[in-house]
Amino acid sequence: MDMTTPTLESPETDTTSRPARARQVDAASGKKPKVVAQMSDWQYLERSLHRMIAGWGRHFPAWEDKIAACRHVWEQSECVRRLRERLAEFPGTNGNQNAPVSARLETLVNMVLLAPSHEDAIDGIYQVLSGALFRSYLSYVESAHPVHDAPTVALLQEIVRVKEQQRLWLRGYRRRHPHTTDAAYAAAIERVLADCGNLTGALPVEGKPARPVGIGTLFRPSLRAAKPESQRPRFNLMTEIERDFTHSVEARRLFWCYGYMMEQNLADEQLVWIYDSSDMPWEFMQDVSRHLWDESRHGNSGYSRLLDFGITLERIGFPDYAALEPQLTDPEWGKAGGVFPELTPLDLYNKVFGIGMVAETGHFPVKHEGYADFKEGGDMESAEMMLFDIIDETTHVQYAHRWLPVLAARAGVPDEDYRQRGLQERKRCQQDADIRLAALQATALDTGSDAYAEYQALLKIARGHQLLSNEATCPPRLFKPM
Ligand SMILES: [Fe+2]
Ligand SMILES: [Fe+2]
Repeated sequence: MDMTTPTLESPETDTTSRPARARQVDAASGKKPKVVAQMSDWQYLERSLHRMIAGWGRHFPAWEDKIAACRHVWEQSECVRRLRERLAEFPGTNGNQNAPVSARLETLVNMVLLAPSHEDAIDGIYQVLSGALFRSYLSYVESAHPVHDAPTVALLQEIVRVKEQQRLWLRGYRRRHPHTTDAAYAAAIERVLADCGNLTGALPVEGKPARPVGIGTLFRPSLRAAKPESQRPRFNLMTEIERDFTHSVEARRLFWCYGYMMEQNLADEQLVWIYDSSDMPWEFMQDVSRHLWDESRHGNSGYSRLLDFGITLERIGFPDYAALEPQLTDPEWGKAGGVFPELTPLDLYNKVFGIGMVAETGHFPVKHEGYADFKEGGDMESAEMMLFDIIDETTHVQYAHRWLPVLAARAGVPDEDYRQRGLQERKRCQQDADIRLAALQATALDTGSDAYAEYQALLKIARGHQLLSNEATCPPRLFKPM
């Protein structure tokens, strides 16, 4: 499907080929321009794309595509935010943001979601449905009153730019992964699109309104997030790094690059948080989308620093957060498939608690130490990686505080002092980690193992790229809390 025909010429300068004006009032109009209802449809479709990208996102094995899908989740949430802000400016204010839309749209998005394969879903999401929306936006931009409704025109132009970037990503992806859309799937979507008037105007709400995409279907995100076999970890490097963590600034630098890279695992999991919380207020979805994008960016920050040193994922491996040893040989490792069990409200509460109150809050002291030590040692790139992460993490902890009471109420958790429990959990984790470190350091170091040799080789590569001038003088530091 072609998304390229309409242009972004300003309606104020191009008066020759513009479609007929879309009048916003007629004899039956009340005080709301017609575009308000159309914006509700657009919002529903953008939210559906957001949820579908999250639902299918765990199927991407390649690093660059995982990173792109997580950025798309954020971009989609930004498209929704823009539409919601404009919707609230019209008569009806916040009520417009949650207005019901036609169930025909639910049929459409479910049709796209229920693709026969991941590759078909990519076509359905990024090409067919996004393409139809793209044309719908441009058609409005070209027919709207360029002065009276300039704010809507401006926001649609912003959204169109987002779609153009996604289309460029799709073009690159399809060059790497050629695929012809399943003909029956494509025809079925086209049929429903036609039934929705090809999104050329707001659809009347008849009978029950649309529910979120996926509700009432059997679609589930994949149990395992896909990873290429070439990125399977070959050694238990974490044990080697942890043994030196407190007394070697070089070991800590390697840890932070590797540890940040692994945060893509958290982003992959948060795709399911999004898929399974469609009943939460939109503002929560917006916050989780940013959190997810940030964790994916932290993954990419760590990996980009490893790449600076010349260390690829194929060399160092991209383990899951699960125990490392079984991953070295697990036959199912990296294969998308299986069904991710639905996150109950209590699961989501516990996950936001565990990440925000324990992991993120608990790591601030060692991260600040890492920032100061890398800066003192003259490795400003690694220091910068730490600094931006600390800034992001501060906002993540704030949003956890904002939403934990809401998530607790949703989960039916009786009033608990989550701050106090967080403090206790952090203490317990640090004690467990310190005991683990003591046991590790008490075992004889096997300098003849392949894992040890690889660890030493990686340290040497990083050292060769950027010496840390304080390796010999940096005092002992805290052990990481988990
Ligand atoms: Fe992070
Ligand atoms: Fe975080």
